[in-house]
Amino acid sequence: MIWLELYKSLRESREEKKLNKYKIAVIPGDGIGVEVVSSAIEVLSHISKKNDFELKFSNFDWSSEYYFKNGVMMPDDGINQLTEFDAIFLGAVGHPDIQDHITLNGLLLPIRRAFDQFACVRPSILYPGVETPLKNIKPYDVDFIVVRENTEGEYANVGGFQYKNFPEEVAVQSAVFTRKGCERVIRYAFELALERNKKNHVTSITKSNAQGYSMTLWDRCFEDIKSEYPKVSTNSLLIDAACMDFIRKPTEFDVVVASNLFGDILTDIGAIITGSMGLASSGNIDPTRKNPSMFEPTHGSAPDIVGKEISNPMAQILTGGIMLSHLGETEAAKELENSVKKVIESGEILTPDLGGHSKTKEVTQAIISKL
Ligand code: NAD
Ligand code: IPM
Ligand code: MN
Repeated sequence: MIWLELYKSLRESREEKKLNKYKIAVIPGDGIGVEVVSSAIEVLSHISKKNDFELKFSNFDWSSEYYFKNGVMMPDDGINQLTEFDAIFLGAVGHPDIQDHITLNGLLLPIRRAFDQFACVRPSILYPGVETPLKNIKPYDVDFIVVRENTEGEYANVGGFQYKNFPEEVAVQSAVFTRKGCERVIRYAFELALERNKKNHVTSITKSNAQGYSMTLWDRCFEDIKSEYPKVSTNSLLIDAACMDFIRKPTEFDVVVASNLFGDILTDIGAIITGSMGLASSGNIDPTRKNPSMFEPTHGSAPDIVGKEISNPMAQILTGGIMLSHLGETEAAKELENSVKKVIESGEILTPDLGGHSKTKEVTQAIISKL
């Protein structure tokens, strides 16, 4: 009950706490992250002027380029520097010449953990005008949100090597599942189902047939919490079957709650069945609002298309919409989503991932013109 009250008050405080001025830490990062963040900032600047609030952007050059110069992805006091901001807006991290575990464990993942951004929300909506690889699906037939646990689980970064580089080498990578960690993200999913008020349904994803400790703890937490929400229907799926059902019957999902790794995998499927990675928005949320939340799209730095000026900025722009909504600027967030939808629906100015021939900048200008 205490949690229910807390979430209710959080929802109410979002509007109450609405400021007129927001300090945003911008970390464009690597690859197409730099291209799409620049587009999104242009769009966000327009919408803030139009809606009479101020976004004060501060740029941080923490990235793989920063690593080449300094041997680290961000300075020692990086996390401290970010604490004073209302939100963090990040592009992508990852460079073909540096091992991913160095770049990601040096920047992105520590921020998610340090700021306890335990709920990663990733919507998958099939917008009108977008082609899906699935048959017999109409616009908005697919409309679900994956809530991904974002601070522990398989991403806990606990482990080590023994006999490194010897033939006997051993690697141990431990997953960490805590009752507190499972309960809070599952509760968040139930609250979100109520707030969405669509199917009022939560699907839990595990692999408790093989992972008999961590995932059965998750299952028990899910059972406990669902009894607090009699108005929300539920089901549980194993991750392998869930991957199949995301393709076989994606229309049945509403809110899906999953562990860190399973949520990561499922959201790439969610992205591609609703058109493209270039449309997949995401927010790393600390629902307690004690820390800044971080907004970054689901996609990565896409080295295969960097510099070609064809990256789709829509995922980053829609991610900006999730940020505005989190900050309490819900009207502006809706306008932003609508302007992206109009550009998609008209079908004239689209990047190649959506079947078009336009450049990143042309799409950005088209979105601004629809605001
Ligand atoms: P990716 O998401 O970067 O790219 C996958 C595919 O989707 C590529 O073909 C790419 O061209 C396409 N794509 C992605 N975003 C697009 C966009 N906005 N417009 C058009 N096409 C787009 O995944 P990857 O190739 O597996 O990873 C590349 C690097 O990014 C790796 O270093 C990886 O670790 C990193 N990564 C970072 C994040 C993050 O920072 N949040 C997320 C995923 C991957
Ligand atoms: C994502 C990415 C990251 C993740 C990687 C780059 C560590 O794939 O945000 O989906 O797995 O969280
Ligand atoms: Mn991912």
